[in-house]
Amino acid sequence: MYLTPAEERILSGENGEVMERMFRLLVSLGEIYGADKMIPVGSAQVAGVSYKSIGIPGVEFLEDYANKGAVAKIVTFLNPAGMDIEDWKELNIPTSFAENQLRIMNAFKKMGIVVSATCTPYLAGNLPRFGEHIAWSESSAISFSNSVIGARTNREGGPSALAASLCGVTPNYGLHIEDNRKPNLLVEVNARLDDNADFGALGYVVGKKVKNNIPYFTGIKDADTDQLKALGASMAASGAVALYHIENLTPEARYMKSAGLEKLTVTDKDLEETFSALSTGKEPDIVILGCPHSSLKEIMTISRKLEGKKLKKPLWVCTSRMVKEASNRMGFTQTIEAAGGKVIADTCMVVSPIEDMGYKATAVNSGKAANYLPSFCKQNVVFAKLDTLLERIT
Ligand code: F3S
Repeated sequence: MYLTPAEERILSGENGEVMERMFRLLVSLGEIYGADKMIPVGSAQVAGVSYKSIGIPGVEFLEDYANKGAVAKIVTFLNPAGMDIEDWKELNIPTSFAENQLRIMNAFKKMGIVVSATCTPYLAGNLPRFGEHIAWSESSAISFSNSVIGARTNREGGPSALAASLCGVTPNYGLHIEDNRKPNLLVEVNARLDDNADFGALGYVVGKKVKNNIPYFTGIKDADTDQLKALGASMAASGAVALYHIENLTPEARYMKSAGLEKLTVTDKDLEETFSALSTGKEPDIVILGCPHSSLKEIMTISRKLEGKKLKKPLWVCTSRMVKEASNRMGFTQTIEAAGGKVIADTCMVVSPIEDMGYKATAVNSGKAANYLPSFCKQNVVFAKLDTLLERIT
């Protein structure tokens, strides 16, 4: 792998211990995957932010780096944390958990990393352009940026995204290379897609079958940003899919050839079976929406549906801090709160400690959350469309 003289100097420790270690990590990755060189990246997004995921060793690692003067070279956002950084008391987050989560956020802030903790950075101030190389590590954000925006990122882990953030480069391999972005499976969708949850169900079915490959969809006539983020998130969770193309919809699809690819057909029956397979519970204790984090449009829709209603069960709507600010200004948050729900920033149902807060059954409209909640949070799950969920609790 070719390294510039300046990069060789980082590797020899000239820029300090932290830079040497981080750069060495990138070089090792590059060597494993056959990269020819390092390439500059426009932004990074670092996962492994929740105290629930990284524990005390993670806190101490980050504080050590921050104290040694590590500083982000490029705009870097964080994945969701374990709690709303501002309103954690209101959510009854245990104090010891909160104290450690705040240590994590302070360490990132000291490194110049934007402590906006969201899996939809592209809706909250970190929007890459078509063809831009980036180093992101949240699977749904990777899928969205590669597929819907046409930016280029591999599936980074938390440490390699942090290394890219501190060094400003990433090794050139995988999805950074045009030839590796071609589809290898044709997915013909022969099913009705009326609701965002249908896209989550579709993503779950396809992810299970595709596993690490790049699907090319036909038969999806239209889909908005929220539906594409639901599709990609679910497919990334069930099949580690980092890139997909949709005929006439996503930007690289027009350059891709689908003739001769093996074909998978998805029908209404497949989606119905997915809703029922992912629904492991019957009566939810709480409804949590916003996986991936809600857009302003999604919050507006929920708020309009809740106008003048009273909720019988708790409702959380998860989003980024930036979108919550806009929701506050528009009065959407207040309408949801008047009904008895909460708009929560910085966290989500999977990375917050809901299992320690007395919840045993959670209802969601997200294929990804429905897939993850049983194993990550010991929850029974109700997976359904938004209207069905709201009807059950109003
Ligand atoms: Fe985001 Fe949490 Fe879902 S990180 S994609 S809301 S599991």
